[in-house]
Amino acid sequence: MGSIEEQPKRSILTRNSICSKLKILLLVVSTNLLSLFLFSCTFDPKWSTCGPRIHAWNSAALLHELNATRSDLSGSRTLAADLQRRLAVTNSLLQTLLAEVSRAREDDVAAADELSGELKLAMGPHKLPLGFTSNLDTDELYPALGAGCFKFQDELVEYMSYEVGEECPSDDIFAQRLMLKGCEPLPRRRCHPRSPAGYIEPTPFPVSLWTTPPDTSITWDAYTCKNYTCLINRNKEKKSYDCKDCFDLNGREKTRWLLDDAGGLSYGIDAVLASKPRGTIRIGLDIGGGSGTFAARMRERKVTIVTSTMNFDGPFNSFIAGRGLVPLHISIAHRLPFFDGTLDIVHSMHVLCNWIPDVVLEFALYDIYRVLRPGGLFWLDHFFCTGAQLNATYVPMLEGVGFKKLRWTTGRKLDRGVEKDEWYLSALLEKPMT
Ligand SMILES: *[C@@H]1O[C@H](CO)[C@@H](O)[C@H](O)[C@H]1NC(C)=O
Ligand SMILES: *[C@@H]1O[C@H](CO)[C@@H](O)[C@H](O)[C@H]1NC(C)=O
Ligand SMILES: *[C@@H]1O[C@H](CO)[C@@H](O)[C@H](O)[C@H]1NC(C)=O
Repeated sequence: MGSIEEQPKRSILTRNSICSKLKILLLVVSTNLLSLFLFSCTFDPKWSTCGPRIHAWNSAALLHELNATRSDLSGSRTLAADLQRRLAVTNSLLQTLLAEVSRAREDDVAAADELSGELKLAMGPHKLPLGFTSNLDTDELYPALGAGCFKFQDELVEYMSYEVGEECPSDDIFAQRLMLKGCEPLPRRRCHPRSPAGYIEPTPFPVSLWTTPPDTSITWDAYTCKNYTCLINRNKEKKSYDCKDCFDLNGREKTRWLLDDAGGLSYGIDAVLASKPRGTIRIGLDIGGGSGTFAARMRERKVTIVTSTMNFDGPFNSFIAGRGLVPLHISIAHRLPFFDGTLDIVHSMHVLCNWIPDVVLEFALYDIYRVLRPGGLFWLDHFFCTGAQLNATYVPMLEGVGFKKLRWTTGRKLDRGVEKDEWYLSALLEKPMT
C-alpha cells in the first residue's frame, strides 16, 4: 500500500539525497565525537584506564611524564585546530541540509497539489475522528489502492476525472487495463455507472442458472458484440477469444464436469465431492471461472461458489450475475479476499498455467492454500505447460506448497490429433488436516 509521499519521484530523489547527506553528517559528527573522546581521555585523570599516571616519588619518571604531557599538549593543540576546522565543515553541511529539507517540503506540497480533488480524496489519507484511532493503531485511514496505481499516474488522473454525483465515463476496458497493470484495487469513485436501457428484472432462480440473461441487463459500450446472440455466434468464428464457447449454455457448457473421465484429465464434480464426507464441501471459489458454469453445477449440489473473472472479450461478470451466481472481479494477481482457513474448495481451470510468472504463480498457490480450511480441496483442472516445464518447475512447485495429492493426472494435449510437447496436469489436492 502506498502513500501520497511515494508518488512524486522528484521528492523521493530529494529525500534519498537528503538521506545520504544525513548519513555523511552523522559520520562527520561521530568522527568528531571520537576525536573529542580520545582528546578528553588523555587529560581526564578520572579516566583511570587511559589517563596518565603520576609517579611523584620518581623525578626521572616525573620528568618523563612532564615531557610526555608537553608533547601531548602540543598534539592536542593540533587536534583542537583540526576539530575547529571540521566543525566549520559540519556547520556548512548542516546549512545545506536544512536548505534541502525545506526545499523538499515545498516539493511535497507542490506534488500533493498536483493530485486533483477527486484523486486526492480517493487516495487519502484521511484523519480519523478522535476516539477511533486506538482501534486501528493509526490516526489516518488509507483507502485500499493497488501499488501499480502509483506507476500510472496519468491514467489514474484520467480515471478519476468525472463530475461528482453524475454519470461515470464509459471506461470499462480502460479501467480493467489499469487493474491488469497492477492498479488493483482501483480507487473508488463518486459517480454512477450508466444503467442499461430498458433493464428488466432478472430471470428467477433456478431457471436463471441455465438461461442466457436478457441483453438489456448490461450496457454493451465496451464490447464489439452488442448482444448475447453475437457472443454465442462467435463460436463459429476462427478468431480466438477468451473462453470462446462459454456464453453458449446449450453447447459444451451443458456437459462440463458432469462425467468423470476415469484415468483422464477431466474429473467429474460428483466424484470430487464424493472424496469428502457428504455435505462437508459447502462454500468455495472458482478462479477464472468464465461464465460461471462450475458455480451453477455446484449450486445444483447445494454448494455456494464465488466465481472470479475479468471481463476479457466479453461481459463475464454480468453474465455470471445474470445466472444468479456471485461474480468477483479480481485478477489472478490479487490476494484472495477471503480469510485464512475458510473455504472448503478452490477450483481453477485453464487459467493457472505457464503464462503466469513462476513467482506470481507460487504466491497464488500459497494463497489458495491459505484460504482453504484444513481438509479443503484444491482442484487444479487442466493446468497447461510444456513437458520440460512440468517436470522442472511445476511439479516441484506444487509439491513444495504442501498439498496432499488425492488425484494426479498428466497428459499430452492433442492438437488436431497431433501430439506436441504440450501437457496438461489435472490434480485433486487436499490441504492437510494439521
Ligand atoms: C623529551 O621528549 C623529546 C622528544 O619529544 C626527546 O627528544 C627528549 O629526550 C625527551 N626528554 C626526556 C627527559 O625524556
Ligand atoms: C446483435 O448484435 C449484432 C451486432 O453486434 C447485430 O447485428 C444483431 O442484429 C443483434 N441482434 C439482436 C437480436 O439484437
Ligand atoms: C517427467 O518425469 C517423469 C518421471 O521422472 C518421466 O517419466 C517423464 O517422462 C517426464 N516427463 C517429461 C514430459 O519430461
